[in-house]
Amino acid sequence: QKLKLSLEQIEKSGYEHFMLKEIFEQPKSVHDTMRGRLLVDEGVIKMAGIWDHIEKFKNANRIIIIACGTSWHAGLIGEYLIEEYARIPVEVEYASEFRYRNPIITDKDVVIAISQSGETADTMAALKLAKERGAFIYGICNVVDSSIARITDAGSYTHAGPEIGVASTKAFTAQLTILSLIALKLGKHNGNLGNADFMSLIAELDAIPKKIEDVLSSTHELVQNIAKDFVQATNFLYLGRGYNYPAALEGALKLKEISYIHAEGYPAAEMKHGPIALIDENMPIVIIAPKKGHYDKIVSNVQEIKARKGKVIAVVNRGDTQVSEMSDYVIEIPETSECFSPIIASVPLQLLAYYIAVYRGANVDQPRNLAKSVTVE
Ligand code: G6P
Repeated sequence: QKLKLSLEQIEKSGYEHFMLKEIFEQPKSVHDTMRGRLLVDEGVIKMAGIWDHIEKFKNANRIIIIACGTSWHAGLIGEYLIEEYARIPVEVEYASEFRYRNPIITDKDVVIAISQSGETADTMAALKLAKERGAFIYGICNVVDSSIARITDAGSYTHAGPEIGVASTKAFTAQLTILSLIALKLGKHNGNLGNADFMSLIAELDAIPKKIEDVLSSTHELVQNIAKDFVQATNFLYLGRGYNYPAALEGALKLKEISYIHAEGYPAAEMKHGPIALIDENMPIVIIAPKKGHYDKIVSNVQEIKARKGKVIAVVNRGDTQVSEMSDYVIEIPETSECFSPIIASVPLQLLAYYIAVYRGANVDQPRNLAKSVTVE
């Protein structure tokens, strides 16, 4: 027992929990995801899995992304990325729904499964169904040689390294990185993304690990302090628009998973169709509001929240004034392209969930009722 404990401590490399270690590993894990793939100086994205089957992607009627949990949130961002840059229609489905609804799949479809573990039963079954019906199936997995990685026709590993904490953190940002690479590569190849835009986007993507490092060091203490004020909260709302709507869903999921506080993510504009009824002085609302991406609309959402005395925790770009002035708590992050902003914005939200859970005395690495990989239905 003693030996086991000390081994675990070594594995945590001084961090109190695997989750915190994994959050802090993200500058490296995102870098590892891009290593050997993103060649900025040459202006090239190299991905054998895509390149070897480029005709499949080029001729695809549509791409269907299937996944569960956090990986499904990555898939939603993948939809925005691929549709924006490669102009290929994308649908994103929960694997569990897809497999049981007799979906229309043809040999002109490319089905991408996203799975950290590569073992999720529903994702695996959905893929098998897609394969039977003739689709080309592609895997984005973290665990090398996992079941999903083995049954797919091709794929890209995320290379985030082993993720031990049940709540996914570095695997998520690695998935977003892979999806960014795929979208930009396809867009460049099929001519929907011009060279100048491609070059500036890849330079921006290349800078993401440094920006994550920056966010970790500049927000870590601040987020800990914010967390202290919300230990007793019973509900949370997370809002974002565009690329940051799925980031809001993921922020809420992190909090639910490890702190057991009820949290909902919503596209900010949908607030008026329901959640606004919940807002009073006891409702904390995390709002992701970077400068690029519907900023003005978010400003009016924050006004609506403040008019109802909601407590706003805003994630904004450094130097922001409009949203910041109205907010109760402000977390500043560096600017990036809108499409990569969820990678950066997710980091303080992971920290927020982590510290709220720690202060509530929850078992952060192994939350009740949850499993790291769900190999049964
Ligand atoms: C479980 C895990 C989540 C994960 C989901 C999908 O619910 O607790 O963290 O997002 O399964 O797992 P996968 O390995 O397929 O990404």
